[in-house]
Amino acid sequence: MRRTIIRGIAAVGAVALLTLSTACSNQREGATGADGGGAAKGFAQDSLVGVALPAKTSENWVLAGDLFTSGLKDAGFKTDVQYAGASTSVADQQAQISSMITKGAKVIVIGATDASQLSTQVAQAKQAGATVIAYDRLVTNTPDVDYYVAFDNYKVGQLQGQALVDGMKAKKPTGPWTVELFSGSPDDNNSKVFFGGAMDVLKPLIDKGDIVVGSEQTDIKQTAIQGWKAENAQQRMDSLLTSAYNSGKQLDGVLSPNDTLARAILTSVKGAGKPTPIVTGQDSEVESVKSIMAGEQYSTINKDTRKLVAQTITMAKSLQKGDKPETNDIKSYNNGSKVVPAYLLPPVIVTKQNAAEAYANDPKLSPLTK
Ligand code: BGC
Repeated sequence: MRRTIIRGIAAVGAVALLTLSTACSNQREGATGADGGGAAKGFAQDSLVGVALPAKTSENWVLAGDLFTSGLKDAGFKTDVQYAGASTSVADQQAQISSMITKGAKVIVIGATDASQLSTQVAQAKQAGATVIAYDRLVTNTPDVDYYVAFDNYKVGQLQGQALVDGMKAKKPTGPWTVELFSGSPDDNNSKVFFGGAMDVLKPLIDKGDIVVGSEQTDIKQTAIQGWKAENAQQRMDSLLTSAYNSGKQLDGVLSPNDTLARAILTSVKGAGKPTPIVTGQDSEVESVKSIMAGEQYSTINKDTRKLVAQTITMAKSLQKGDKPETNDIKSYNNGSKVVPAYLLPPVIVTKQNAAEAYANDPKLSPLTK
């Protein structure tokens, strides 16, 4: 039986509950969150919906901001879409949320820069009568977040782990395979969820000796890339290549949590004159889709931002009418203070083999696969 993991604070601690597929299929059939809270009475249709997004660390955030601006306007809401700055992001986001509260926002959507640094602001939002929706990244250690809308992050990690194994096997049918592991920024709650999902697949193979981590760095503290910054990933890969691969040992694969870091890792490996390993990714960024089609990056994940934003706007519309928003998972995302009712969308693994099919309905990416 597959395990469902509490994907918040204890993301990597295995808490066996029930299979995710069972959870999703049961709960997608019309059930709604148990304790979503939120505005039971509804509010005026032209109310303000605030959207506080992190720094533009990947293309999906840029797209999300544009889609929220146009989609919320089309739905009749007033909008205030803000991004945190790259170096002052926590303070920026705190101030932006406070300002949305002052302006009377009825719904505040938050893609957290630092999951654990917003409890004061979301408490104020609740006191002011706003509903708080965590978008893509969970907000942790607070009872004041009402809903979570995201792709199934643990599943993303599992797909990445499996793609790494599949890609290495296709290239070199018998192991052991030598790999390096990377994870995202430690302040983003998703990072440990992605890593937990990937390790669900990789750890048994590491324990058996089928997969060897060349540097022996398997702890998330060692693999983390602060700020999801490409330069930090490139530096770490440079130093791993110097320390663990200078004797000609072959690097077969790299677990990369997203596309930005995948391309930085590939740049480092190329710079060192080493053969291209199997490298995973996430986000379906344009440059990574090109790289996949060129046979360089091995895989990415399609998390269609258009669907995630649309789902969040659907939630805002339900709240406006005084209805309880639909959720399909009320078990998986414990934020350290409560289980946050979630609407989870399914991520899709993409390699060169299925890219054309996966992006068939995406006018930006589809032409790249021809
Ligand atoms: C998102 C990823 C993204 C990363 C860096 C994560 O929280 O889920 O899609 O690659 O942030 O921006």
